[in-house]
Amino acid sequence: MKLFTIHFNNDSFLYEQLYEYIVEKIYDKTLKPGTKLPSKKKLSKHLNISENTVDKAYAQLLVEGYIYSVERSGHFVEKLQLPIRPVKTLSSPQERVTKKEYLYDFSYAGVDSEVFDVSGFEQAFKEVSKDKTVFTGRSLPEGSLNLRTTIRDYLFSSRGFSCSVNQMIISSGTDYLYQLLFNLVKKSSVFGLENPGYQRIAKYIGQTDFKYIPISLDEDGININELINKKIDLVTITPSHQFPSGIIYPMKKRLELLKWAEEHDGFIIEDDYDSEFRYRGKPIPALKSVDTNQRVIYMGSFSKSFSPGLRISYMILPEELNKEYEKIKHIYPCPVSNFTQEAFAKWMAKGEFYKHLNKTRTHYKQKMELIIKCIEKSDMNLKVYGMDSGLHMILEILEDVDREKLKMNLSDNKIKIDMLDDYYYNKNLKNPTMLLGFSVLPMNEIENAMELLLKSIKTAKKEVVSE
Ligand SMILES: Cc1ncc(COP(=O)(O)O)c(C=O)c1O
Repeated sequence: MKLFTIHFNNDSFLYEQLYEYIVEKIYDKTLKPGTKLPSKKKLSKHLNISENTVDKAYAQLLVEGYIYSVERSGHFVEKLQLPIRPVKTLSSPQERVTKKEYLYDFSYAGVDSEVFDVSGFEQAFKEVSKDKTVFTGRSLPEGSLNLRTTIRDYLFSSRGFSCSVNQMIISSGTDYLYQLLFNLVKKSSVFGLENPGYQRIAKYIGQTDFKYIPISLDEDGININELINKKIDLVTITPSHQFPSGIIYPMKKRLELLKWAEEHDGFIIEDDYDSEFRYRGKPIPALKSVDTNQRVIYMGSFSKSFSPGLRISYMILPEELNKEYEKIKHIYPCPVSNFTQEAFAKWMAKGEFYKHLNKTRTHYKQKMELIIKCIEKSDMNLKVYGMDSGLHMILEILEDVDREKLKMNLSDNKIKIDMLDDYYYNKNLKNPTMLLGFSVLPMNEIENAMELLLKSIKTAKKEVVSE
């Protein structure tokens, strides 16, 4: 019998290294099924290790079923159909870091790190960590009562409606909220989605057996006749700032939608994702504030108003769906950690969220005004609208430009910007139109970024052929 030769190191226990060595030899078939392993005594002597170390390694191999023992005969390699063993390598952290590919980022998603102050949050984390129970206990499936209470109070003062904490569920983003909702509605439900709209929702629904139908927008919001004709059961809308057009649904439309929901046994999913960012006039109350018959499923998120990385969002269910949730909630634990929820609740309750909102609102407004100034200085025929969209505006190019050349210019100049076309399910807009996001782009880069953006448009203009 061949004895093993192992070069031990100090990285782990000797028995672990012996165990690993034998497992590897079983996988690479150096130790074939039925092969007898050396006796513990012989091997310990050969490797100059204690018999106890060999015993521990063999015991581990036995419990994992790599070897079997025969009384008074010894240990043998088990007959196993082993797959190729995955190579154990540690990926270096650099491999996962995405390179910053853009010089200027006009995304609407994300927040500005310039106005992001974590000091108050740090304090809340410190205070919460003194309470052991946030680590030893679990949060309720619907989320921390402290956080739900704090959010309820915030909604009452800022979004104009009161709700019961028992109808609120904390979760970790719109995707998780939809996953929950899919378990609460009729399996035959058809979802209506705003067109143009937030395409991620179509992707979530596309992963299930539910159907979705894009619904056109009128000047004042989603087309109600289409909801009726297409037999929609649930419609997702963004009434405070329609995404991406920025339309604010007027009260008339809101009441018509509620009437549709009552008459057709439908539900309205109100995605109130960034209503905090309104720079003129009074805040627009949520549709939920006039939902007297419990037809609105309200979804809120802190991804725009505080941090997309924190992953805290929430949903307020109408009574009918809340009853369904109560039946299944034990299957779905809250995906946000207890600790994060308690710290965030503390931070909000101290009034820090309001302070943060005031600061960011002023900052984003200044950024928006600076962008508009840059556009006004241009000698091109451009139209800006959607100033009520929150963290982006819409820029329509009324010049005759070559779309391919424009795309190439933007890419050559390393400008990240979305085209409005991409938010339609089925439409190519007559004029090239862009979503000018200003949440990520730092204030001190705006002028240079705009100069390069406008140059990218100008140099994509089709040559005027003179006769
Ligand atoms: C239209 C819309 N709804 C909802 C969200 C919030 O998404 P989440 O809470 O998953 O971060 C966003 C964020 O960008 C959004 O643009």
